[in-house]
Amino acid sequence: MNVLGIETSCDETSAAVVAGGDGTARALSCVILSQDVHAVYRGVVPELASRAHLVAVGPVVDRALLDAGAALADVDLIAVTEGPGLIGALLVGVSYAKGLSLATGRPLVGVHHLEAHLFGTSLDDPAAVPPFTALIVSGGHSLLLDVPAWGDYRLLGETRDDAVGEAFDKVGALLELGYPGGPAVERAAAGGDPARFRFPRPMLHAGQRPGDADYFDLSMSGLKTAVIHAVKASRDPAADRPHLARGFQDAVIDVLVAKTLRAAEACGRRRVVLGGGVACNRALRAALAAALAARGTTLHAPSPRLSTDNAAMIARAGLFRAADAGRPVDAAARLPFPGLVRA
Ligand code: KG4
Ligand code: ZN
Repeated sequence: MNVLGIETSCDETSAAVVAGGDGTARALSCVILSQDVHAVYRGVVPELASRAHLVAVGPVVDRALLDAGAALADVDLIAVTEGPGLIGALLVGVSYAKGLSLATGRPLVGVHHLEAHLFGTSLDDPAAVPPFTALIVSGGHSLLLDVPAWGDYRLLGETRDDAVGEAFDKVGALLELGYPGGPAVERAAAGGDPARFRFPRPMLHAGQRPGDADYFDLSMSGLKTAVIHAVKASRDPAADRPHLARGFQDAVIDVLVAKTLRAAEACGRRRVVLGGGVACNRALRAALAAALAARGTTLHAPSPRLSTDNAAMIARAGLFRAADAGRPVDAAARLPFPGLVRA
């Protein structure tokens, strides 16, 4: 079965063709058009994102079909991100997908963006299948989940304030590194001295027990405030930039590694799947892989292309949800995660 995926929930216009069947799936093509316009405003401007999607969605879909060597007639199912995300941006993809479905008679299925992030890694790595523990860290969300089977999701912890990617973006802006902050902070941190700034590890302390409300949860706002204070107190913030970035990144990594280890251990999993834009961070991947390996657990992390928003993961999740085709599809800024229960 060939699935055409369409993703427009934030600032990437993406389309992909995924071929699947019998539990296997592979991406035949994946086109991602990132919107540079937001760098000028140091953040995503929703109205500009919608307009950019409007211009790009048609050509991006055409290109994805061409790259896959497929015609519209070869598409068996159209999958589109329904939510969560920016409502105007989502509407562009959903409207386009509905039009395509009507014109071709091909069935349409709506996909939850975060469920799709869980599936993304499996396109690169066939071993990234349940049961596993998952850490999804993006610009809009930070979740720690247990996944006994596809469609069966147990929420262990989430952020109480900023998402991890959002914290990277805010610290990037504070350090005048541009938008998006994540890659720039990582680059700056590579040249930083880890001993110069020691920031707090929010919601991570000795004596926490598995039943505690903050055992798996994350929080980024206190750390961000600590970085703000350090910048204000610095006599030479420009010279301190790499050290500040390193101190911040080390604190984030310590927290994410510790909480992920706790989750994998509590659920007895030998596999951990990483997803979301922050999964691009090489220092995070290395620290997580090493800490997990020490306990006989493997890390499955997607390639950078499949970490950030892309339509291949949407098509893959659509393949799993193919039985839902025919149900009404509507863009929704907030959307319940299908199959998710609080653990
Ligand atoms: O998954 P994604 O493309 O979009 C959302 O669904 O939010 O994630 C984008 C986020 C941004 O906050 C960006 O700064 C962050 O992922 N990011 C990184 C890195 N690359 C992207 N954060 C830390 N280190 C990176 N190398
Ligand atoms: Zn995302």
